[in-house]
Amino acid sequence: MRYRRFGHLDFEVSALGFGCMRLPTTGKPGKIDEPAAVEMIRWAIDHGVNYIDTAYPYHGGNSERLLGAALEDGYRDKVALATKMPIWMVEKADDFDRFFDEQCERLRTERIDFYLLHNLQAPTWPKIRDLGAIAWLEKARADGRIGPVGFSFHDRADVLKEILDYYSGWSLCQIQYNFVNEDVQAGTPGLEYAAGKGLAVVIMEPLFGGTLAAPPEPVQKIWDEAPGRPSPVDMALRWLWNKPEVSVVLSGMTTLEHVKQNVASASASGVGSMTQAELQLIARARDAYGALNPIPCTGCGYCVPCPNGVAIPDNFQLYNNAVVFKGSSRQLNRNLYNDMPAGKRAEACIQCGECEEKCPQKIAIGEWMPRVHEALARK
Ligand SMILES: NC(=O)c1ccc[n+]([C@@H]2O[C@H](COP(=O)([O-])OP(=O)(O)OC[C@H]3O[C@@H](n4cnc5c(N)ncnc54)[C@H](OP(=O)(O)O)[C@@H]3O)[C@@H](O)[C@H]2O)c1
Ligand code: SF4
Ligand code: SF4
Repeated sequence: MRYRRFGHLDFEVSALGFGCMRLPTTGKPGKIDEPAAVEMIRWAIDHGVNYIDTAYPYHGGNSERLLGAALEDGYRDKVALATKMPIWMVEKADDFDRFFDEQCERLRTERIDFYLLHNLQAPTWPKIRDLGAIAWLEKARADGRIGPVGFSFHDRADVLKEILDYYSGWSLCQIQYNFVNEDVQAGTPGLEYAAGKGLAVVIMEPLFGGTLAAPPEPVQKIWDEAPGRPSPVDMALRWLWNKPEVSVVLSGMTTLEHVKQNVASASASGVGSMTQAELQLIARARDAYGALNPIPCTGCGYCVPCPNGVAIPDNFQLYNNAVVFKGSSRQLNRNLYNDMPAGKRAEACIQCGECEEKCPQKIAIGEWMPRVHEALARK
């Protein structure tokens, strides 16, 4: 494993961090395949991963519980544990302690090493700021319940700058970033601004929610024809580690094989270690993607539940797949759409717009739904 600077803090972080939002499941909603997940997390730690990220809502609350179990038997002392305050559930100042205590109980710990406000955006930041989030973070830090503080973020670079400049006590921020998202959300300007202020920058969605791991045919062709047939996952991850501003790359790994591959990539990574030829290859892949994917949905799920029952990310995934993938895959996605209960399909959308302010990608969800239905419905 390679280790990197963590902003201005006296902590060497593993290049790869474990993101606990996409753990293996048994197929039932929220139900984690516990033996498999514990094995993966412990394998990663045994091979040098020292930063683990979770949050209150992941896997319906079970991610924190699972992690509490995985970090028994001496593993807790080997890692820096990060979790996040679910700011959208905080209604009054007392809620900060209530959620934090519940998280510590789930995680079987009395202290969170890095504590973040979850999913700051332009509409959510003033509310949580005015409810006293900073004062609460400072108190929790002073009495030893938490270590350095930060926030995860899904909005534009100018909003990131405003939040970073508001409070001098931030030590880390977590942003979505990957080679097809240089201009999306915080993007490269946000990454450079945060790192320039001395913050540790934690990267989430490095494979754009896994979509970069399974490229559509025109992109796959670019990888296949390149010398050495590079792995798209390895290239996407090493592109991030090539940048000095990046501290740790969180990967939401779903199988032990993913963990092994990504640990191997991290071990071969380094600032400035990519060749010009590799960087040019990535630029070609980026251009090829840009020409293909119509809806920039990452499947993060922040927009659900829809009050009208529409399974928003499922509809978008089927539409994107049907547009991007060719042949039998396109028909398969149409079939999957038509097999969904009618109330979950895009046709059930009444364009109320309620989901749109929750979408980190700022997708015009209500406008897309009739187009999704038109494209996928059985005629
Ligand atoms: N705070 C926030 O607002 C927020 C939002 C998003 C994420 N996060 C955090 O950031 C972490 C990382 O984000 P992410 O989970 O979206 O990461 P990601 O790396 O973009 O996507 C994870 C997916 O990539 C695929 N994958 C990973 N390694 C692979 C490999 N070696 N080969 C093939 N496929 C591979 C898997 O997809 P398949 O399962 O389809 O194979 C996996 O589920 C999350 O787990 C979470 O901890 C936080
Ligand atoms: S716009 Fe459509 S998908 Fe979004 S909340 Fe309203 S009904 Fe649901
Ligand atoms: S529509 Fe937006 S909020 Fe919903 S899953 Fe996609 S990216 Fe996330």
